[in-house]
Formats: sequence, structure tokens, C-alpha cells
Amino acid sequence: MKILSAEFIISNNNVKFCPDSKVPEYAFIGRSNVGKSSLINSMFNKKKLAKISSRPGKTELINHFLINKDWYLVDLPGYGYAKASKYKIKSFQKLIKSYFTDRKQLISAFVLIDIRHAPQKIDLDFIYWLGEIKIPFSIIFTKSDKIKFEKIEDKVNLYLQELSNQWSFLPKYFISSANNRSGINKILGYINEMNNL
Ligand code: GTP
Ligand code: MG
Repeated sequence: MKILSAEFIISNNNVKFCPDSKVPEYAFIGRSNVGKSSLINSMFNKKKLAKISSRPGKTELINHFLINKDWYLVDLPGYGYAKASKYKIKSFQKLIKSYFTDRKQLISAFVLIDIRHAPQKIDLDFIYWLGEIKIPFSIIFTKSDKIKFEKIEDKVNLYLQELSNQWSFLPKYFISSANNRSGINKILGYINEMNNL
């Protein structure tokens, strides 16, 4: 997909106030610091489209970005990180939960997983919950530039094996890096396919 425009539209602390439009929407979700906002900036070649930080908990709101004046990509706060206040964790969780249960425009979610780590309960639980509420999703493994190329396949296979304990069929997945832009064309191609369904 050729990117002609990528514009920040609005941030909201309540799903009720999100754009009242009919354009298809896709959301990036995952643990804080996994690289959701960085990947968005890399996808659209704009360093400051989404706010990023090495400190977890940077994204606090539901952020709508309009792409090619045709579809939305949504950046969400991360779920769970050890150092945050209980209040913040609770409010992020509430926002995330309401977004996924109420947002009718959502076509599909992308769950971002840091490729370096062993499967974590918090991600597996979240993926399970998406299944329960019947939200279509795929997985994006992030930060692939941080491990040796030869290790990537092993890491992915380990994750898929873990998922196969919960799922009878495995989700589509992508291997990405915001730093070297790998995987981005495939992700955009997949969104393009879904937009044309
Ligand atoms: P929250 O907004 O806190 O939920 O985090 P996030 O998932 O949006 O993460 P963010 O994009 O802010 O990135 C967190 C940190 O990881 C930053 O220091 C980024 O520079 C770094 N980072 C993100 N993606 C990559 C990547 O693909 N490769 C490398 N090497 N670093 C990355
Ligand atoms: Mg963020």
C-alpha cells in the first residue's frame, strides 16, 4: 500500500468520544514499551506522529491516526507494567477494555509482542480475552533488530507452540522492526487486503 498521508486526528480518554465515522479501523495493542508507537511512526515515516519513550507508560490515551484519508490506525496505552501506579494500570485497563468491547469500527487488532522475551502470561491472557470477545487479531513480533537473525525463527516457533495450547488454529503473524522497517510492507499489505474485503 502506498502511503499518501498520515495525520493525527484526536486523542481520547473515553471510547464514546472517538471519531464517529464509518472508515475501517485497526488497533495496535500490547505491553507498555513493546514498541507500538514506534512502529506507527516507522510505518508512516514520521518521527513524531505518535509519542514514544524508553519509559513505559508513554501512551495514555486512545489516539486516532487517519491514513490515506481512508482508514484509521489506533495507538493505545500499553497493558501492565511493573513500575506504574495501581491507579494508572487500572485506568489503562479500563480504557483498553472499553475500546475493544465498544468500538464497532474496529476491523482487526494487532497484538504486539517483543520477540526477545519468552511468552508472558499477561499477553497470553490478553490474546485469550480477545478471542472470548470475538475480536479478530494478528500478532506482530517487534524489535527483531535486537536479536540475531538466526534466532528469530526459534523465538517465533516457541511462541506459536505456546499459543497452540490455547488455540486450535494459529493467528497470522508478522516479524517487525521499527528501526530497520522490516515487516512494515507486509503489515500494510494485509491492512490493504482487509480494507478491500
Ligand atoms: P507505551 O506507550 O508505554 O505503551 O509503549 P509503546 O509500546 O508505544 O513503546 P514505544 O514505541 O514508546 O517504544 C518503547 C521503547 O522501545 C523506545 O525506547 C523505542 O525506541 C524502543 N523501540 C521500539 N521499537 C523498537 C524496535 O523495533 N527496535 C529497537 N531496537 N527499539 C525499539
Ligand atoms: Mg506508546
